[in-house]
Amino acid sequence: MKIGIIGIGNIGGTLARKLASAGHEVRVANSKGAEDVRPFAEEIGAAATDTHGAVSGADLVIMSIPLPAIEKLPKDLFKDVPASIPVVDTSNYYPGLRDPQIADLDAGEVESIWVSRQLGRPVIKAFNNILAHSLSELDQPEGSAGRLAVAVAGDDTDAKQLVMGIVDDVGFDPVDGGPLEESWRQQPSTPGYCCDYDAVTMRKALNAAVKGEAPRKRDQLMSKMGALGPNPTHDDVVAMNRSLNPLT
Ligand SMILES: NC(=O)c1ccc[n+]([C@@H]2O[C@H](COP(=O)([O-])OP(=O)(O)OC[C@H]3O[C@@H](n4cnc5c(N)ncnc54)[C@H](OP(=O)(O)O)[C@@H]3O)[C@@H](O)[C@H]2O)c1
Repeated sequence: MKIGIIGIGNIGGTLARKLASAGHEVRVANSKGAEDVRPFAEEIGAAATDTHGAVSGADLVIMSIPLPAIEKLPKDLFKDVPASIPVVDTSNYYPGLRDPQIADLDAGEVESIWVSRQLGRPVIKAFNNILAHSLSELDQPEGSAGRLAVAVAGDDTDAKQLVMGIVDDVGFDPVDGGPLEESWRQQPSTPGYCCDYDAVTMRKALNAAVKGEAPRKRDQLMSKMGALGPNPTHDDVVAMNRSLNPLT
C-alpha cells in the first residue's frame, strides 16, 4: 500500500519504520520539507517528501502531528485526495500541559470531529490511545496471548477496516471504537487511554467511559504525574493511567 505519513516523531516515526519494514511504500513528511526528513527516510527505507507529497496518490494517510499544528496545515492539502482515502488522526489534546487552549474542545467538542472540521474531510481516529513506547516495543504477532489493543473509531466502514488492518500489521489487536462521534471514549484520561490493555479489556474500558468525565480526570493526572518524579518508568505511567479509571 502507498502510505503517506505526516509527522515523524514518537508515533509517526514508529509507524513509518514498522510499515516500511512490513513492505508498504511509505513516504514521510514534516513541516520543514523533504530535505529535512531525508536522513530518517533513508534510514527506514521510506521516501522523503513534503506534506503535499505525502497525501498525493496515497492509499492511506497518517497524520501524527501535535493537535494545534493541524490548524496550520495548508488549507488545500486534501483538495485532490478522494474522500474514500482514509486519513488517520493520532492526535490528543493536552491543554495547559502541552497545548494552548482551544475553545471548541474546552466546550466539549469531540477531538477528532474538531480535527475533521479543520481538514474539511472525515478522519479515522487510531493510535492515539497507545503510548509511544508500547507502539514501538510491545507489538506481538496476531493470536499472541495478551496482545495489546488499539481502538479505531470512524464513520466509513471500509476506511475503518483498512486502518484496523494496519493496526494488526504493526502488532496490535484493533478494537472498533464506533463512529467518530463516539471517539471521546478513547481520548486522554478515559478508561482505555494508554493503559496497555488487551482487546477484551479495551472493549470493556471503552464501554465504561462516561461522557464529560475525562477533563476532570485529566486534571487529576497532572498531580499524579508530578508525584511520579522526573523519570517515571513505562510501567509507572501505565499504572498511573489505569489508576485514574479502575475497571471492576
Ligand atoms: N507520544 C505519545 O506517546 C503519543 C501517544 C499517542 C498519541 N500521540 C499523539 O500523536 C501526535 C504525535 O505525537 P508524537 O509524540 O509523535 O509527537 P512528536 O514526537 O512531537 O512529533 C511530531 C511530528 O510532527 C511534525 N510536525 C509538527 N508540526 C507540523 C506541521 N505543521 N506540519 C507537518 N508536520 C509537523 C514534527 O516535525 P517538525 O516540527 O520538524 O515539522 C514531528 O515530526 C500528537 O498529537 C500526540 O498527542 C502521542
